[in-house]
Parts: sequence; C-alpha cells; structure tokens
Amino acid sequence: MSIQTVGIIGAGTMGNGIAQVAAIAGLKVIMIDVNDAALAKGVATLTGSLERLVAKEKLQASDRDAAIARIETSTDYAKLAAADIVIEAATENVDLKHRILKQIEAAARPDAIIASNTSSISITALAATLGTPERFIGMHFFNPVPLLQLVEVIRGIQTSDATFDAVRALTEKLDKSPIGACAIRRASSSTAFWCR
Ligand SMILES: NC(=O)c1ccc[n+]([C@@H]2O[C@H](COP(=O)([O-])OP(=O)(O)OC[C@H]3O[C@@H](n4cnc5c(N)ncnc54)[C@H](O)[C@@H]3O)[C@@H](O)[C@H]2O)c1
Repeated sequence: MSIQTVGIIGAGTMGNGIAQVAAIAGLKVIMIDVNDAALAKGVATLTGSLERLVAKEKLQASDRDAAIARIETSTDYAKLAAADIVIEAATENVDLKHRILKQIEAAARPDAIIASNTSSISITALAATLGTPERFIGMHFFNPVPLLQLVEVIRGIQTSDATFDAVRALTEKLDKSPIGACAIRRASSSTAFWCR
C-alpha cells in the first residue's frame, strides 16, 4: 500500500512530532485530539519546531508553509476515513487505548493500517481489541521525534507481512531508520533483527 494520508491520534509530545515529520515528508496529516485547546497546542509546538529549522537555514520557509498546510486538525474521528494509516499516540493508558482503537476501527477504512506508539503496552494485547488484528502494529518513535532517527517497528503475533512491509516503507519515507522487533523475542535476538 502506498501511504499518502496519515491519521494521528493525540496532538501531544509524540503526536505533534509525528505530524511534523509526516507533513515534511509530503504526506497529508489528520491530527485528532479531544479538544481544540490540545490541537492548538500541538500545532503551536510543531510550528515552533519548523520555525527553528527555518531560522537555522535547514528548511525553506516555503517548505514550512507547505508542511503546515498539509496538516488538518479535528476532534472528530470520522475524519479518519481519509487515512491510509492511523497512528495512535494518545496518553499511555491501556483502557484508553483499547477504547481509542475501537473508535479508529469504526472510523477508518477496512484496509487502513492501525499503529500504536505505545512505549510499554503489548502490541498483541492491544490487537485483541480489533476485529482485524493483522493490520495492527507497533510504531514506536522516540522523543523528540523530529530529531531522533530510530523507529521501532513492533509486530504483534497476528501482524501481517503486508502491514509490516508498509510500515517499514513509511518509516523510511519519513527519513527515519526502522528497527524490527517481535511480540515474542527470541532469547538470542537483539533489537536490530527483522522478525518474519
Ligand atoms: N513522551 C515520550 O518520551 C514518549 C516516547 C515514545 C513513546 N511515547 C508514547 O507515546 C504516546 C503519547 O505520549 P506523549 O508523551 O505524546 O503524551 P502526551 O500526554 O504529551 O499527549 C497525549 C495526547 O493524547 C491526547 N488524548 C487523550 N485521550 C485522547 C483521545 N481519546 N483521543 C484523542 N487524543 C487523546 C491528550 O489530550 C494529549 O494531547 C504514549 O503511548 C507514550 O507511551 C512517549
């Protein structure tokens, strides 16, 4: 799947960072949060980050403006119908994430990938809330997202190869370096192996 539009749940530290790198990579972004104040704060943060890049002459002002124009914000999950992938980056709470994943599954296209940026919750356990766990995967960015290169791509037991391959390609499109990880780690494994 060629990913053109990225839905992001949560406009906080990680969500607005992911929105920034996706928009800079030329992707359309739909960033969702619970209220307009949270969305405005997220947009202000990423705008400030882009301004600093322009001031350091690492980004053209026209590219900053084009990136900001690619970001749509909303409190309405129905907007996710346009997304090829939805990356959940909301508050780290397992019950909240289960509720959000159900909302994403109801709003997004049946073929859209669903990813979570969770730091500590099992991808396989989160997948159990979905009717289609094969399209669910962990996509663990590091903070601050615009500056740190690695993204840990974490398969759940039921994650499909197509989902894994699409997320690995997306990570590279974001100019990040994917490292693979499995829901079940082999005793001899390091984090830098691809689990297939
Ligand atoms: N901060 C880090 O260093 C870091 C690093 C890697 C991964 N993570 C993970 O990323 C995720 C987000 O962390 P963060 O630091 O960005 O948190 P944060 O508190 O900065 O932001 C979370 C955002 O989620 C929003 N939110 C809460 N419920 C929501 C809902 N139902 N729908 C939409 N938005 C909702 C909140 O309003 C808030 O804006 C967590 O799973 C965390 O474990 C964080």
